[in-house]
Amino acid sequence: MGVLWKLEPATAAKHRLYQRYLDAWWPILLQTSQHTGFSRPRVTLLDAFAGPGRYEGNEPGSPVFIIDRLLNHKAVERMHLSQKRVHLIFIEKDRARHEHLLKELESQFGALADLPVKVVVRRGEAGRDSLPLLTELGAWGNPILGIFDSWGSVNVPLEVMRRIARNKSSEVITTFGPNWFSRREELNADILDSVFGGRAHWTPAADESRPDERWRAWLNTYRHALQRAGFGYQLQFQLVPRTGQPLYLVFGTGSDAGLRAMKDAMWKVDDRDGESFKDPRTRGAEATGQLDLFQTEGAIDPELLELVNQRLAQGSITVERLGHWLLTETARWTSSHALKAVRVMRQDGSVVLGSTGKLTTKSWVSLPAAA
Ligand SMILES: C[S@@+](CC[C@H](N)C(=O)[O-])C[C@H]1O[C@@H](n2cnc3c(N)ncnc32)[C@H](O)[C@@H]1O
Repeated sequence: MGVLWKLEPATAAKHRLYQRYLDAWWPILLQTSQHTGFSRPRVTLLDAFAGPGRYEGNEPGSPVFIIDRLLNHKAVERMHLSQKRVHLIFIEKDRARHEHLLKELESQFGALADLPVKVVVRRGEAGRDSLPLLTELGAWGNPILGIFDSWGSVNVPLEVMRRIARNKSSEVITTFGPNWFSRREELNADILDSVFGGRAHWTPAADESRPDERWRAWLNTYRHALQRAGFGYQLQFQLVPRTGQPLYLVFGTGSDAGLRAMKDAMWKVDDRDGESFKDPRTRGAEATGQLDLFQTEGAIDPELLELVNQRLAQGSITVERLGHWLLTETARWTSSHALKAVRVMRQDGSVVLGSTGKLTTKSWVSLPAAA
């Protein structure tokens, strides 16, 4: 592969997701009320596999759109940007891509030293250099978003995730390329030990022989690794573009606002561009990719139906708890979908309530056989 490469549809979809997410993330962290008067924190974004900043068809790479969308954000006036307050760190290992990225950023934005935020572009190794760079730039103690967007070999030690997870209001997004799950013979056991935090954690996934289950097993293994690292919530999903190969993504956060913002971002991308976010928990059902899943009276998205059925198969639950489960355990569904789903499922008799009367979030719901 040359310095630049072609933008694949799944990467374009991933970029739209990042853009939506960041559009929400920046104001959550940077916009402060004039009334509170508390000292404004520093916020650090680390794009640890930055790339050359451009694609063959001239589309912008992640460093370019990250800077561009921040500087041109509609709430930028209320974010009080300064070089002290906002740090953007880009790491790229390949010499030619690193040089390209520097030139690209300067041609887009002028001298980086003159920007209203601090931009650091380093040639380095994501796994080795992320923590020292975060230390050098004084990131600890304030929010960090780490984006680990390698092609195939996710070789960032779990210790990096652990340090970020234990830092205040911090999050990570890790992506896996399409081939990651199929090349068992190429797996380097020592690297995987460091990525997953020990051999016992990843060998069951490596032993999975059914081809279509491999990505589920690995993704779930990584999700559990982020959980052990200390992230309170971990979302995992397969990003399926309209055409071409899928990508896989795991998001770790400790923040309710971050979790909701990521799900919102998925819905917005879904609606406009037709790609879908497949939940590893589901096997048959495909998400329809429609924003208004209850558009047709009495209809329910097949993926949501399958997930609710899966949860109810484990036992009765209140609608409120079901909503929490959807929010924290499934790729894209949120609390508000629980009540809507149960309403439709109750009408067609596929669930029953614990008591007669009005359906509320406090109602107990179960599958008919278990009632
Ligand atoms: C998937 S591409 C990144 C694309 C970019 N984030 C974007 O969205 O436009 C992965 C990049 O990581 C670089 N890379 C590979 N191994 C690396 C490592 N260990 N540390 C940092 N960069 C690495 C590759 O040269 C490549 O440019």
